Amino acid sequence: MAALHHRDERGHPPEHWGSSLGFVLAAAGSAVGLGNLWGFAYRASQGGGAAFVVLYLLIVLVVCLPVLVAEMVLGRSTGHAPLLAPITAGGRRWAPLGWLYMAAAIGILSYYAVLMGWTGRTLLHALLDGLPADMAAAEAYFAEISSGGDAVLGHLISLGLTGLVVAAGIRGGIERLSRWGMPLLVLMLLGLVLWAASLPGAHEGYRTFLLRWDAAKLTDAGTIRNAFTQAFFSIGTGIGAILAYAAYLDRRSAIPSEAVAVVGMDTAVGLMAGCVTFPVVASFGLSDVVSGSTVGTLFISLPTGLASLGFNGRLVAAVFFSLAYIAAITSSVSLLEVPTSSLMDRLGWSRDRTVWVMVALIGVLGLPSALDVAVLERMDALFGGVLLISGGLGMALLLGWGVPARFRADLEGSGSRRWLVRGLLWALRWVSPPAIAIGLAVSVADLVR
Ligand code: PFF
Repeated sequence: MAALHHRDERGHPPEHWGSSLGFVLAAAGSAVGLGNLWGFAYRASQGGGAAFVVLYLLIVLVVCLPVLVAEMVLGRSTGHAPLLAPITAGGRRWAPLGWLYMAAAIGILSYYAVLMGWTGRTLLHALLDGLPADMAAAEAYFAEISSGGDAVLGHLISLGLTGLVVAAGIRGGIERLSRWGMPLLVLMLLGLVLWAASLPGAHEGYRTFLLRWDAAKLTDAGTIRNAFTQAFFSIGTGIGAILAYAAYLDRRSAIPSEAVAVVGMDTAVGLMAGCVTFPVVASFGLSDVVSGSTVGTLFISLPTGLASLGFNGRLVAAVFFSLAYIAAITSSVSLLEVPTSSLMDRLGWSRDRTVWVMVALIGVLGLPSALDVAVLERMDALFGGVLLISGGLGMALLLGWGVPARFRADLEGSGSRRWLVRGLLWALRWVSPPAIAIGLAVSVADLVR
């Protein structure tokens, strides 16, 4: 068994992050993605505005944050990739967890690359041809790009770009991309938030998004399920992506503060994206569209709304879909890193070889989603919902109950205060598992419905 801290088959030395900031930006890049831009606003509009946001924040803080810390500890303390880290920490009986991470990451990337393809295509369309004139034109345009040859091409190109970054390595590829990509993304989003605030009717948008309070929604099964799925998918914890990154982490860095930074950035971007999409939708009278039930909402309602602004609208659309593509690629690289580092770790293969074998495999696996949106939605419910949340449960059980001493030793050994470590461990043992089990039961019930 080779390990990530050994040389690979070509004799390359082990890899590391250039700095702690580089790791945080890459991990935040993994978290901030299409899920923030599309899913957050869409689910908030379905789940009753502020009630959804409150539930979401609660789940992120008390359930996801401890799991994220556990995931980072598992990666750093074992120095192994997601496939082998659970065995190294807890012994052979935890092997299925490693396979679960592999399956979830590969499954998610297979359809995530298709969504990236749509994003890239919409960007090119806004730049080169302009925006659809009305709703009917937008729907026809979306039907054209979201299945068939266009979607397959977009999927393969996006996967290829992801492969190029991952093949360039942790420091030269992923860290470099995150270092310029993340600040640029935040800057562009900030610009759009300010612009959206100036729209007539912006206030109405904020009202539907954040200020509409319906206490009954707090106990509504649909809202709870939405908040769970969104929290886990958006933070991206429970599937080994952050674990894979943490395996290249320095022993001294302060994991709890890094986890808080990642969660904070992710939530801020979700809220900011809502402060762009909701005013646009309200201002152009498209509210019934955003509460529709397909993953295409963003690709239909936003461009249609912006079309009436002429050149400025095109500019805004170009900025929005560029930042969406940056958000997506900093996420897709983390998904590809899961099987890549796992096979490098397990078989001692070189990074290049592993990346391209995986890209070929995932390219094929994604074809059904590229050809049929209904398949994509099923894949999302299964891999991005059930498997991802199960992985989070496994992570909480492994570090909370299986090897709590490892959790304590790693964090206290790197300078975290005892009370903090105790509090996190308590949440990991007593809060996360039962809460995740409830979220999982609701997600499974939804899947088989
Ligand atoms: N968090 C990403 C998003 O919100 O789009 C998606 C994602 C990335 C999920 C990495 C899971 C993951 F491991």
